[in-house]
Amino acid sequence: MNLEEIDKQYVLNTYNRNYVNFTKGSNATLFDDKNNNYIDFTSGIGVVSCGHGNERVSNAISKQASNITHISNLYVIEPQAKLAQKVAQLSGLDVAMFFANSGAEANEGAIKIARKYGETKFNNKKYKVITLEHSFHGRTITTVKATGQKAMHSDNFSPYPDGFTYNAQINDIYNSIDNETVAVMLELVQGEGGVQPFEKEDIQKLASFLKENDILLIVDEVQTGAYRTGEFLASNLYDIQQDIITMAKGVGGGVPIGIVMTTHKDIFEPGDHGSTFGGNYISTAASLEVCNILDEIKNDGSLDETIIYFEKQLRAFYENNTNIFEDIVGLGLMRGLRAKDAQILSSVIENAFDAGILVLKAGKNTLRFLPPLTITKDEIDEGFKRLEKAVEKI
Ligand SMILES: Cc1ncc(COP(=O)(O)O)c(C=O)c1O
Repeated sequence: MNLEEIDKQYVLNTYNRNYVNFTKGSNATLFDDKNNNYIDFTSGIGVVSCGHGNERVSNAISKQASNITHISNLYVIEPQAKLAQKVAQLSGLDVAMFFANSGAEANEGAIKIARKYGETKFNNKKYKVITLEHSFHGRTITTVKATGQKAMHSDNFSPYPDGFTYNAQINDIYNSIDNETVAVMLELVQGEGGVQPFEKEDIQKLASFLKENDILLIVDEVQTGAYRTGEFLASNLYDIQQDIITMAKGVGGGVPIGIVMTTHKDIFEPGDHGSTFGGNYISTAASLEVCNILDEIKNDGSLDETIIYFEKQLRAFYENNTNIFEDIVGLGLMRGLRAKDAQILSSVIENAFDAGILVLKAGKNTLRFLPPLTITKDEIDEGFKRLEKAVEKI
């Protein structure tokens, strides 16, 4: 059997896979088993923030792997504690955190923190969480229900947990709050929903209102975190005080990790939450090195330079192709081009692959770009050159 046949026979069919076999990666360039090369404007859906095959991340993993890979959370784990300290410092917040293995798990943790807060801090039970209609928060039963997109609430997986309500707009949230509402959960730039950033003033107004009314603000930074928008957290850009933040994807740079951090540092006690793998030696040693690298490229100005250069080339590409696209959206290196038509977008993505450039779709009609934060100017130029080729025939 060839690779495609093995995969089809033994792996459950949950993704419409492309059967290119990538065998090597170097920063934002991937190579397949036939030695074709591709420019990666996706970083594995916002994960490989320091690029493919990053030597420092790879050394951190192999050094840790040749020593201790796993002991369990029953013992202190040095890289876990140091990563927690680093993440807290970079966030600029007075937080403590729990380590999980994915974004969905981090969001589960956030919802548990909110529910315990609602149970223990008030005279009446508060448990309802408000989210937005175009949100995406994960694929576990609870985070599927927290996700506001109706299409995700399939009867195949019902019944779902109670306590989630949805609003179309930030400004609708005020009227949905009742005396059982414990939290509002949002992404500041909706990723899967179409790379849609919210207005800073609307978010700041909401954050202050929630604080005054003792309702928790949970910010899902699974996609926006780890400098994706230019700051360590998108929350730093929006300059808000939130109660709970979740991270995953780019903070691991390729290892599975999820983080839920909160200013309510004493909410959990032993027995409330746990994870066998969460925060183990390998994932936290890797993530610590990822955070060090990203902190360095932020401080030496190269990340900001890359963001400006990517924006310039994206804008030039957009202006050449206003017959296909009608808007540029997003922040930092989390960008999108709104296509005039969903059908055309599918052809662009297909042609892009054939031209050797990997891009993503978000929402119904957004061409999405999530390049590694370490992408070089040459890789950006080559990527847009290939993208021009991909749209030539449209
Ligand atoms: C904003 C957001 N939250 C949660 C998730 C779920 O993360 P994971 O796939 O790691 O469970 C995603 C994944 O795309 C996401 O973009």
